[in-house]
Amino acid sequence: MFPAPPDHSRRNSPALSPDEAAHAARVLAYLGRTIGEEGGWISFADYMSAVLYAPGLGYYAAGTHKLGAGGDFVTAPELSPLFGKALAAQLEQALAALERAEVIELGPGSGRLCADVLSALAERDALPDRYWLLEVSPDLRERQRAHLNAAVPEHLPRVGWIDVLPDRWSGAVLANEVLDAVPVHLVVRQPGEWLERGVTVDAAGALAFADRVLASPALRERARARFPDAPDYLSEINPSAEALVSSLAQRCERGLMLLLDYGFPAAEYYHPQRDRGTLMAHYRHTTLSDPFFLPGLADLTAHVDFSAMARAGAAAGMGVAGFVAQGQFLLNCGILEALARCGDPQSSGYLRAASAVQRLTSPAEMGELFKVLALTRGIDPGLVGFRRGDRSHRL
Ligand SMILES: C[S@@+](CC[C@H](N)C(=O)[O-])C[C@H]1O[C@@H](n2cnc3c(N)ncnc32)[C@H](O)[C@@H]1O
Repeated sequence: MFPAPPDHSRRNSPALSPDEAAHAARVLAYLGRTIGEEGGWISFADYMSAVLYAPGLGYYAAGTHKLGAGGDFVTAPELSPLFGKALAAQLEQALAALERAEVIELGPGSGRLCADVLSALAERDALPDRYWLLEVSPDLRERQRAHLNAAVPEHLPRVGWIDVLPDRWSGAVLANEVLDAVPVHLVVRQPGEWLERGVTVDAAGALAFADRVLASPALRERARARFPDAPDYLSEINPSAEALVSSLAQRCERGLMLLLDYGFPAAEYYHPQRDRGTLMAHYRHTTLSDPFFLPGLADLTAHVDFSAMARAGAAAGMGVAGFVAQGQFLLNCGILEALARCGDPQSSGYLRAASAVQRLTSPAEMGELFKVLALTRGIDPGLVGFRRGDRSHRL
């Protein structure tokens, strides 16, 4: 999701269609009821979980999730098929080492990445036995099926949908901009005490932050280990994202997990100057700092602490095979060579592709903020996508 200018406050409410206004009212009523039933306070993770995933209401669970140019944000696969083509170079190398290879894609969005990867793997004669899409939203499953049917009908028999992780997997797991959508806890360090920032309803009936003493020993232990010794320091802790990586790693027989997202190693994430955390809302291509802006109609995300993800994988037996900035990863995977095969450099198609490659790789755009973490078990760690610019030592 990029770029991120200007910040709107809650007061600049946009014009909503009657359906959107009715949906927003239903989500607010649900939040009010839930907070009331929980004694007037819920953790921020519970709030984020409700506004993104509550059945029939959440951003990703009610058909309000809008990807692409006409939606709320654009992800890398929506920018250009060259992103999937580059990823396919890495997948081909990893899958070649395995007799039985499947790909599992988490949170597959519009289905574009799946279609682009399958086309590119077919060109390389390196198709996996199966390509599983882990998608819980029925609405998104239908969108994915429609896109695959239109774009790569010949590969559809290879594609299957699942709604829970398989017991065992061997092959590759792909997660592009998934970990940033996993609900985070907000923790505040104050002199002599740790607080958890949650959500309440204020006297005027509006959603508001409220702090409580941090009750969870697991969160306190993580915050103690990561936060700098600075007063009024606020940041996120994401045990659910760690648990997701850990479950995937535990279930891996042999293979590669590729995690692509915006984020940092812990030393940068929990830098003393980053004392307001990384939480953001996305609505119609605007980034907002107010997480109470149109709950259910806006996306909510936090950056990823890649050190925590690497540790979660390592604790479950998967080693770090590489950690690079996205721009470098795509260059290592041959995105410029793929661009050079896009036809006449004067043609509009080529110019569109070149502009997307610039956006995906430039350090000023998605090339540096976005990172790629590779975790492997039982395969050669000399991965093509990480041959230059590896920063694993910073994790
Ligand atoms: C920002 S969208 C990314 C979509 C797509 N990967 C792309 O790059 O265009 C985040 C997706 O992650 C999914 N997601 C969040 N938590 C998940 C989990 N625990 N398992 C699988 N998918 C998850 C959400 O449902 C949503 O579809």
